[in-house]
Amino acid sequence: MRGSLILIEGLDRSGKLTQAEILAKKLDADLVKFPDRLTPIGQIINRYLTDKTFDLPDQSAHLLFSANRWELAKLLEEKLLSGKSIVMDRYIYSGIAYSLAKKGAEMDSYDWLYGPDRGLPKPDLTLFLTISLEELSSRKGYGEERYEQIEFQKKVKECFLNILDLKDPAIAIVDVQGLPIEPVTAKLWSEVESRALHQPIDREISHFS
Ligand code: ADP
Ligand code: TMP
Ligand code: MG
Repeated sequence: MRGSLILIEGLDRSGKLTQAEILAKKLDADLVKFPDRLTPIGQIINRYLTDKTFDLPDQSAHLLFSANRWELAKLLEEKLLSGKSIVMDRYIYSGIAYSLAKKGAEMDSYDWLYGPDRGLPKPDLTLFLTISLEELSSRKGYGEERYEQIEFQKKVKECFLNILDLKDPAIAIVDVQGLPIEPVTAKLWSEVESRALHQPIDREISHFS
């Protein structure tokens, strides 16, 4: 028996961290946030996101975000196998959607963008929070980091919706428009419970192939 791997995805300020914290508590799970800005590669990513004068080629930035996931991959698997569940805030879908939204050269190639993430553990459930750009941009702290601009977020939202496979039962799109924190948690919890992910799992860990 192993723990479950649950991912919350969405645009900046959509409430991912708020919900990931609540869900982790309810599941007695560990919370892992990507990018992890404390690892060696995460520190470069943090500089890239917060210092607009520190530029990188789009290809390099994309590969760093993936490399950051690989820095934690072994640890994630070990934890799951030890019976611990993990709730993640962002993962490979953010990696692909934000890069696709930049457009041009390799950024237009889904295969190129997906390639470096092949082999990473695949979440048992991905919860994508959807919300209007208007509601997002009114939230605290918006606009501080690279990517937090309404025009760019609009493109990212489209890219997310294009890449998320709606036929995959492990992916749920959850409309959180206008909802306070508690009703959002209730919606997410019902997706978790209906898949019995609040209980130990006897299937092997899947991987992105
Ligand atoms: P993210 O991790 O997606 O960037 P956060 O969870 O940090 O988002 O939330 C961004 C801001 O919005 C925070 O100030 C948070 O308190 C607030 N917030 C989160 N969920 C809601 C909600 N359902 N309704 C209103 N404000 C929210
Ligand atoms: P955060 O605001 O959730 O800490 O995420 C940092 C930013 O990095 C956010 O704008 C999304 C972006 N991002 C990518 O571009 N690629 C990735 O692979 C990940 C995980 C995040
Ligand atoms: Mg952010």
